Amino acid sequence: MRALLIIPALCGVLLTYNTGLNNAVVFKFTNFICESYNTSWFVFHNCRLKAVSRNKVLLNMNGTILHPAYDIHLHIQVLKRANGYKPWLFDQKLDVCQFIRYRSNPFATLVFGLFKEFSNFNHTCPYMGTQIVKDFYLKYELLRLPLPTGDYMLTMGWFLDRKLQFDTNVSFTFVEDILKKN
Ligand SMILES: *[C@@H]1O[C@H](CO)[C@@H](O)[C@H](O)[C@H]1NC(C)=O
Ligand SMILES: *[C@@H]1O[C@H](CO)[C@@H](O)[C@H](O)[C@H]1NC(C)=O
Ligand SMILES: *[C@@H]1O[C@H](CO)[C@@H](O)[C@H](O)[C@H]1NC(C)=O
Ligand SMILES: *[C@@H]1O[C@H](CO)[C@@H](O)[C@H](O)[C@H]1NC(C)=O
Repeated sequence: MRALLIIPALCGVLLTYNTGLNNAVVFKFTNFICESYNTSWFVFHNCRLKAVSRNKVLLNMNGTILHPAYDIHLHIQVLKRANGYKPWLFDQKLDVCQFIRYRSNPFATLVFGLFKEFSNFNHTCPYMGTQIVKDFYLKYELLRLPLPTGDYMLTMGWFLDRKLQFDTNVSFTFVEDILKKN
């Protein structure tokens, strides 16, 4: 594939060829893991991915918070795969109740922007009862961040009353230009 592309590149054709393919992006989920460490506070009923086409994977989650949560902290980390997943750029602790009120954290705003329309999380604290993410898929238009092609994992550790109660770890793949992958 690469060898075939070098020839038109020399003629200056590759540029036009490439611009036509700028939208050739893959941005999709590859794995989703949920685990509760305290089922008397948080229970997962459903946590799964479903591929609806080659490049579109839906994420569904259904869980219940059994007692009102007023103090919620999120440990959010991004890992990138390179001989196993390695920490990559983001490693932050976030006060969720404060974030929901003031949208004070740019990275969390980006992540929240990707999924808020698919969930029922868009309200202030406390959180209680059913927590739903329905048919969430990744939209490249909402990714306002230059991201190198690769496989990533976004790990989210949820702390209620300062203790880790559950994890939601999601993996995704991003390919900026399908041609370059070869
Ligand atoms: C989620 O990822 C973190 C690494 O940031 C890891 O410590 C934790 O065990 C993972 N949780 C699950 C349920 O795999
Ligand atoms: C588990 O959840 C209950 C609330 O249902 C809470 O009282 C208890 O402190 C939690 N345990 C830990 C270790 O956080
Ligand atoms: C979430 O799971 C609960 C318990 O299984 C179920 O009663 C409820 O209908 C589910 N909600 C959605 C929207 O799937
Ligand atoms: C979510 O919250 C923001 C900020 O409070 C608000 O502007 C927006 O209308 C809310 N969206 C939904 C779907 O509730």
